[in-house]
Amino acid sequence: MAVDLLLGLQWGDEGKGKIVDVLTSNYNIIARFQGGPNAGHTLVFNGMKHVLHTIPSGIFHENAKNLVGNGVVIDPVIFKKELDKLDSQGVDYKKSLIISRKAHLILPTHRLLDAASEASKGKAKIGSTLKGIGPTYMDKTGRNGIRVGDLEMEKWKQKYRNLANKHQSMISFYDVDLQYDLEELESEFFEAVKILKSLEFIDSEEYLHQAEKANKSVLAEGAQGSLLDIDFGTYPFVTSSNTTAAGACTGLGISPGSVQEVFGIFKAYTTRVGSGPFPTELFDENGKTMASVGCEFGATTGRPRRCGWLDLVALRYACQVNGVTQLMMMKADVLSGFKTLKICTSYNYKGEVIEHLPYNIESENVEPIYTEFEGWSEDLTAMEKDSSLPISLINYIEFLENELKIPIKIVSVGPDPVSYTHLRAHETEADLVCRLLLEK
Ligand code: GDP
Ligand code: IMO
Ligand code: MG
Repeated sequence: MAVDLLLGLQWGDEGKGKIVDVLTSNYNIIARFQGGPNAGHTLVFNGMKHVLHTIPSGIFHENAKNLVGNGVVIDPVIFKKELDKLDSQGVDYKKSLIISRKAHLILPTHRLLDAASEASKGKAKIGSTLKGIGPTYMDKTGRNGIRVGDLEMEKWKQKYRNLANKHQSMISFYDVDLQYDLEELESEFFEAVKILKSLEFIDSEEYLHQAEKANKSVLAEGAQGSLLDIDFGTYPFVTSSNTTAAGACTGLGISPGSVQEVFGIFKAYTTRVGSGPFPTELFDENGKTMASVGCEFGATTGRPRRCGWLDLVALRYACQVNGVTQLMMMKADVLSGFKTLKICTSYNYKGEVIEHLPYNIESENVEPIYTEFEGWSEDLTAMEKDSSLPISLINYIEFLENELKIPIKIVSVGPDPVSYTHLRAHETEADLVCRLLLEK
């Protein structure tokens, strides 16, 4: 079995959903391995926008199996809403959507605990999506969680009650005024659990081992981004799972040796939603332009995303931690019209010039050092098949490839699946002639 990984290299929202959708026809199985409904993966096709939170982004393709892996946390209520949307679009997911018995469940009280924890932190809040992610992973590692497989046991409701009672007493420890009607939340939860139970639960690691024997191909779909990783991200302003390549092994039960390609996705600039350090953040007109042209609003919470120049120091770090073999640069079209572009190539860190990501990247410790590039004015979204990229964009791409020593295989120039440019083997400049992959 060949397993390829697809991961975000920044603070999430790089465009993972779009590329998974584009690549799905090459794979037998699309597997989400971590995160939960904090993710918002957008797919745009036939003029319609679809946002997926927990369901893998291959769901719109008939022939692929879509696996929600053991590393994912599932909120049955949000899951049901996603299924309802698929139903309304006539998507037949019953046979193609499979769920690991070992995935953990987000309970209504996990969401409440998330809200209470964030409210109690005041200005120091993480900026969580408030989907209960942190408390659910805490219960997982604390060995208190409820898993999908428990729903098949007779006594799961007792287990639920014990845990929810414990959560309620934990909520009362927080000195915050949290109004909630647990009865109402629970009736919605139990209704949604019934729907979840109508889907196929599997021993997913065994399923993948059998797939390996049958020579099936798997695309593991990451959520969030490397800088939100619980170990390697900008802690504590991170999510609660391993978003990096290693998370695919623990989140699916695959061996490191089965991993082939590691696709690293990044935006041609940088965005972040929620709190935490962001060295190249822009507070000027350039940042506002990126936000408005790039429609930078969170796909899950609708919050405005913070925008800034591309941070090569952070990108280099993410490539190393993940072992990226191929890069995909998204939203190049958003940079059209900037006279000058900047890439942060090193940091001034407490008076010293460094090229690696240090322990502290708060603005008082780190000042970005930039290299400037001439911009391009062409509307890339209007590019036709076989038209070539503007020379300034080629320079931008080549600079990154030379610095990172990893090829940029796809340059995306619009939200829909046909708006991406495939750079073929482009060791030489002549090969930078690009074509739109309309044969998708
Ligand atoms: P994900 O979480 O990584 O799947 O990314 P999101 O869906 O949260 O955010 C990416 C946004 O950018 C979505 O609104 C996409 O439709 C959009 N998008 C993806 N690729 C491109 C691109 O090349 N150009 C433009 N303008 N938008 C894109
Ligand atoms: P996708 O998969 C962008 C951010 C939140 C917050 C921090 C912790 O769409 O790229 P959490 O709810 O996990 O406790 O929030 O992580 N965050 C994301 N930012 N894209 C995401 O997912 C994110 N998932 C979580 O904004 O700062
Ligand atoms: Mg997103």
